[in-house]
Amino acid sequence: MTEPASAPRRAQHISRVLVTIAANVFSMALGLTVSMAGPVPVAPADDTPAASRAQPPLPATRAAPAHQAAIASAYPLASQAGQDILAAGGNAFDAAVAVSAALAVVEPSSSGLGGGGFYLLHRQADGLDIMIDAREKAPGAASRDMYLDKGGNVIENASIDGALAAAIPGEPAAFEYLARKYGKLPLRQSLQPAIRLARDGFPLYARLQGGLRFKRERMLRSPDTAKVFLTPDGAVPELGAIIKQPDLAHTLEAIADRGAKGFYAGPIAADLVAGVRADGGIWTLQDLAAYRVIERKPLFGEYHGARIVSASPPSSGGIAVLDALNILSGFDLPRYDSATRKHLIIEAMRRAYRDRAIYLGDPDFVKMPLAQLASMDYAAGQRSSIRTDKAMPSAMLPGIETEPGGTQTTHFSILDANGNRVAATISINLFFGTGFMPPKTGVLLNNTMDDFSIKPGTPNEFGLVGAAANAIAPHKRSLSSMTPTFVETPKGLMIVGSPGGSYIISMVLLGTLNYLEGMSAAEIVKYPHYHHQYLPDVVDYERGALTDGEINALQGMGHTLQVSGRPWGNMQVITWDFATGKVEAASDPRGEGVGLVY
Ligand code: DON
Repeated sequence: MTEPASAPRRAQHISRVLVTIAANVFSMALGLTVSMAGPVPVAPADDTPAASRAQPPLPATRAAPAHQAAIASAYPLASQAGQDILAAGGNAFDAAVAVSAALAVVEPSSSGLGGGGFYLLHRQADGLDIMIDAREKAPGAASRDMYLDKGGNVIENASIDGALAAAIPGEPAAFEYLARKYGKLPLRQSLQPAIRLARDGFPLYARLQGGLRFKRERMLRSPDTAKVFLTPDGAVPELGAIIKQPDLAHTLEAIADRGAKGFYAGPIAADLVAGVRADGGIWTLQDLAAYRVIERKPLFGEYHGARIVSASPPSSGGIAVLDALNILSGFDLPRYDSATRKHLIIEAMRRAYRDRAIYLGDPDFVKMPLAQLASMDYAAGQRSSIRTDKAMPSAMLPGIETEPGGTQTTHFSILDANGNRVAATISINLFFGTGFMPPKTGVLLNNTMDDFSIKPGTPNEFGLVGAAANAIAPHKRSLSSMTPTFVETPKGLMIVGSPGGSYIISMVLLGTLNYLEGMSAAEIVKYPHYHHQYLPDVVDYERGALTDGEINALQGMGHTLQVSGRPWGNMQVITWDFATGKVEAASDPRGEGVGLVY
């Protein structure tokens, strides 16, 4: 269980990235990236109020046969919390509150009240598809160069360690918003399973224990964190030890009582700000009071008759998945042998990751050529450079380097018996976020500030680089790879997503292709992954993802292959067959989650 290597890698990437930017500008100038004309299957983000936006042309709702409800999440107690809320008469959106809050307690390494994320919702009654953007926001005192020293050099670990690395959380605001606008039950009721788990405790399990070993030293520097997760002498507890979080239970109670104000105002807010400032952070009470979730139109695309609904900016995931699918739509994939098929998918990944670094950022701050990036004309330009028998070296278009993403983020999928659905990917960024817990709050703070481009061209913990579009600015949201997605065909649908840093995008792409090729939910989550994202110009793959024959064939085409030392991802999938009503829920066997259908 390793976190990606950190800051020292940064300097070596700078020149490479400047080349990337030049190369991309060059290719745009050459016209490889074509025009705004032609079919535009993805709706650009805009600031039109959500309610007034037209839905895309493909049907969003269908006459649903009777079917069961389902939940797939990264930990059984969280799936159970959601099931309890559905059984109490809640809908998928109430269950999303219950599952998120329970994950904050039982999977504190991956998400929590101190973080944020994206909730992709489908409301069956009127076919509304909407994304709740609960991404963390930079504090008001944040500035572009806040992680650079006087000489302009990146201060090692400043954007990942300690309270200065924490952005203003979004998850508590999402709870109130989901419950009030979309749910049926009072917020208090949906939070009860999490409050109980925080107060009474849950048994320590192996993955969490591994995360504690990894983060132990950092935790020892935050007395409140150490008190919860380590023994009194500072050791990592035994498997099965009961982890109780009374302060977190108290904070959840405050949210249950007073909604978002219980967190963003009053005594909890005062404790959060005092704790952050004592640890060198820059939060203010105004930053907390001003936090709001934003309803954004998701991105819509079409691939061989399937309707794809995915996360819009500030996630980069939807645009990259749709871009890759647009490229692939020009190939008759089943016609090719398996090695060539994988080669083509790898080449699509290579190209789809390319634009992220340059164009994408917070849509409230930057204008992005989304319609162009997702247009079929643009995809045709990209496709024209793909040969079916030969890898294209990335050297001309370098951009991104990363390490396998683990499980430091979490995804869950929910379908209720009325057809409402939720795909939510939520995070505090790295394992246990900063590892810092402001005293008395029980809240582990995120280090999502590291998802900004902290210096143009300098990679973050996931090796992702960015330019001005993702530069730090007060109140801005950092660019994310989290990709909660719905895939809908005339025959059925899939709700999908995963943790995994920049690898999330390629995993969701493979999951989508696998679903459309007829795989079951269980097959999709256990599918071995392969990944390419420009630079390093390497196909990273899990053991079992490529056969010996495919390895030889891909090497023969010029690909450099690298087997990953460990598995990656923790995908949670629900599928629903419209004809039979059969619902399947599957949790990635790489983790210990569970998919429940009932
Ligand atoms: O939003 C993002 O892209 C990252 N903060 C996600 C981090 C992540 O998935 C870590 N997981 N392994």
